[in-house]
Amino acid sequence: MKDIAPRREELDPIEIASRDEIEALQLKRLKWSLAHAYENVPHYRKAFDAAGVHPNDLKSLSDLRRFPFTVKTDLRDNYPFGMFAVPRDQIIRVHASSGTTGKPTVVGYTRNDIDTWATVMARSMRASGTRPGDIVHVSYGYGLFTGGLGAHYGAEKLGCTVVPVSGGMTARQVTLIEDFRATTIMVTPSYMLSILDEYRAQGLDPRESPLQVGIFGAEPWTNAMRAEMEDAFDMHAVDIYGLSEVMGPGVANECVETKDGLHIWEDHFYPEVIDPVSGEPVEDGQPGELVFTSLTKEAFPIIRYRTRDLTRLLPGTARTMRRMEKITGRSDDMMILRGVNVFPTQIEEQILTVAGLSPHFQIELVREGRMDAMIVHVECDPSHAGVEARKASAADLSRRVKEVVGVSVRVDVTDPEGVARSQGKAQRIVDNRPKG
Ligand code: DLL
Repeated sequence: MKDIAPRREELDPIEIASRDEIEALQLKRLKWSLAHAYENVPHYRKAFDAAGVHPNDLKSLSDLRRFPFTVKTDLRDNYPFGMFAVPRDQIIRVHASSGTTGKPTVVGYTRNDIDTWATVMARSMRASGTRPGDIVHVSYGYGLFTGGLGAHYGAEKLGCTVVPVSGGMTARQVTLIEDFRATTIMVTPSYMLSILDEYRAQGLDPRESPLQVGIFGAEPWTNAMRAEMEDAFDMHAVDIYGLSEVMGPGVANECVETKDGLHIWEDHFYPEVIDPVSGEPVEDGQPGELVFTSLTKEAFPIIRYRTRDLTRLLPGTARTMRRMEKITGRSDDMMILRGVNVFPTQIEEQILTVAGLSPHFQIELVREGRMDAMIVHVECDPSHAGVEARKASAADLSRRVKEVVGVSVRVDVTDPEGVARSQGKAQRIVDNRPKG
């Protein structure tokens, strides 16, 4: 793998400013953002009034804890445009995330917001090792999902040649990467696995591909998966995080020189980690639920948004801005099996240690008698498709999960292609327990 880290003089000065400087900027922007939300969004005025706080009460960053949280249902209750803080004719774009139930949540952007987003995306890509002039293959979905267009505008801003492929038609993805000589790919890690399979199916050596950087996000993935991808493609794999309510992709990104968690672009997004039960902020370094407040967004200011994503805040390394640890999972993806908390990422980590298994997997929850049980459906590697080999892999995986994660699971090793594929975010959990 090539050394492709950006030089210090290529960075935005704020990325490596002193903590004092960053915090002074945050305080100034936070005051603006709270006042902007309060003055222009009836929901925030009501919520602040009900909590007995006013934007003028914020004297220091730590005063933010006195302000109320915003949750997904607040956005749904104000569907579609009720949370916008500027007149509708100043909104130049909307995106929406498909809710599994009911109405989607809608977010909007002014021209300045789109420019800010492109700036943080360009910064994210530069941190990943992408450079002006590179060819960037975007396989994140284009449309209401923020992945495709977010990556697209960031790549243009950085000065790259964008190939706006979107998801799907996997054989064509490989052809385009090879023919156009893409050096960066932006895609969900689960779909990258399908692209990897397609390389092999076409008899191509993925290590010979032109790709040097993969910027993977939109769903949790592990360091074990990073090692697998980096080895398979002989490229760097870095993590990108974001969510539509806060902006889209580009809220935080790993730096290719350290790959030690994601630097949060703290000049635009103020992070807190809270105890999900008490709602109290925890000290940096402690695990909990990530909460974000936007500092510069005009159309859709968001105050203390509870992401449901679980992580820890860590001090800066390659940048002075703080890092968040790789997301372990969402609080709503946590399965509790006989009292043990289990996340799909823990299962992924173990699958990647077992010979004969491919990383395509899905977890099924069932009820057996009065107990919940977990079945891990995982594909065998084509080279291990024999009955005995599969049995051995299954036994090995259930033993490792028991030892390391602490739960008993049944393992079903399927044929290659036996697990449902996604072309975007993978669905890791299928809950077949009786309802009610
Ligand atoms: O997934 C934005 C995005 C697009 C991020 C492309 C990165 C790349 P939403 O559809 O609103 O937005 O989903 C946001 O996805 O709260 C997390 O649960 C999850 N997520 C996003 N990035 C990561 C990541 C986009 N790097 C939700 N690791 C978030 C783990 C992630 N989970």
